[in-house]
Amino acid sequence: MHARSVGIDALSFYCPRYALDLKVLAEARSVDPQKYAAGLGQDCMAVPPPDEDVVTMGASAALPLVQEGDRDAIALLLFATESGVDQSKAAALHLHGLLDLPHGCRAVEMKQACYSATAALQLACAWLALHPDRTALIVAADIARYELRSPGEPTQGAGAVAMRLAVEPRLLALDPEAGLFADDVMDFWRPNYRSEALVDGQYSTRVYLQSLLHCWAQYREQSGRGLADFDRFCYHLPFTRMAEKAHGRLARACGAPAPDAETLARLVGDGLRYNRQTGNTYAASLYEGLTSLLDTSDADLAGCRIGLFSYGSGCTGEFFSGVVQPDYRVALRAEAHRRLLEDRTALEYQQYEDIFQLAVPTDGGEHAFAQYRTGPFRLAGIGQHKRIYERVDE
Ligand code: COA
Repeated sequence: MHARSVGIDALSFYCPRYALDLKVLAEARSVDPQKYAAGLGQDCMAVPPPDEDVVTMGASAALPLVQEGDRDAIALLLFATESGVDQSKAAALHLHGLLDLPHGCRAVEMKQACYSATAALQLACAWLALHPDRTALIVAADIARYELRSPGEPTQGAGAVAMRLAVEPRLLALDPEAGLFADDVMDFWRPNYRSEALVDGQYSTRVYLQSLLHCWAQYREQSGRGLADFDRFCYHLPFTRMAEKAHGRLARACGAPAPDAETLARLVGDGLRYNRQTGNTYAASLYEGLTSLLDTSDADLAGCRIGLFSYGSGCTGEFFSGVVQPDYRVALRAEAHRRLLEDRTALEYQQYEDIFQLAVPTDGGEHAFAQYRTGPFRLAGIGQHKRIYERVDE
């Protein structure tokens, strides 16, 4: 008897309703705008207002999946983030309440830089093999913050992806093989006392590429597949040019010719559209890219094998793959995602910097936050050191 396939049954993406055009940032920093647009491959960064955090973004991404699916079947909720709002309580529990999920549910938060959603995905798939009548909800949400005027600043961003995992999924059935790599390096980190990440960006890019090659070697040994067995690739995207660098490096390692612009556009291009508009979304970034690929590709991807590379600084890498399912298009939320990205408020430079400088109050007093444009949930305030979330009538 064949084992039943397991994988991604539905995907939903959310990003803040405010965006800074990187041409505006380039002017403020006296930088050639082509450095951001062509050199980094970024057009805009999503900017979360003070009443958004990873909980509100994650809940906004997950809400449509909970509303359309069988809520009572959700028995595993994994929240992947490196922008946690509490050192003890998992963001998953805030989400559990906001989404009114069943109490018979295992709910935790997971962290490993930009990689943890992939660990969540793999753990959930193994769990589903034992509980095929249940579904798992994985939510990845992050806010990428670097210091103002630092090299990382133009790669900032924010957003969330929610995934429903199930047996016989409608979108992507995962292959069992996965190539892994872990090493103790300091390429990017954020000490508990800082709200901005520290990064050695050039070093991080090199470690990313080395991790990719290690993961690929192990994946290839397990699966026997070569580059030609893949129709598309999705790479973790600290900035979208990284996918082109990564694919070029992989091709070279496989002894293939360097991919030309047309080949790169076909193999990785559709997966870059959303990330170009949001900037880095850390744990959500790879899955935002997958959503972009499935939503925006003109080609019929049914039956296509997609290679995915997940990377989290520090560092952990994983190369894995999946096959797009026959009726995948009916399970997409492409129109909602298109509207979300198009209907954003453009910020002027000073508005961006003012929002950036706002810090969450830490005095334990009662604070009500001004209402900005958000999704269906917002952070209404803080009182007695507790975050107070509320549903927003849209
Ligand atoms: N027109 C077109 N391209 C230009 C340009 C211009 N006027 N000016 C520069 N560029 C290109 C550069 O040639 C370079 O391309 P290359 O990588 O192909 O050589 C690219 O733009 C970036 O320029 P560089 O000088 O390397 O940028 P930087 O030192 O200011 O910073 C990063 C780039 C990516 C290192 C920085 O943004 C960063 O640290 N980002 C965070 C990355 C991260 O989060 N990593 C951890 C998670 S994986």
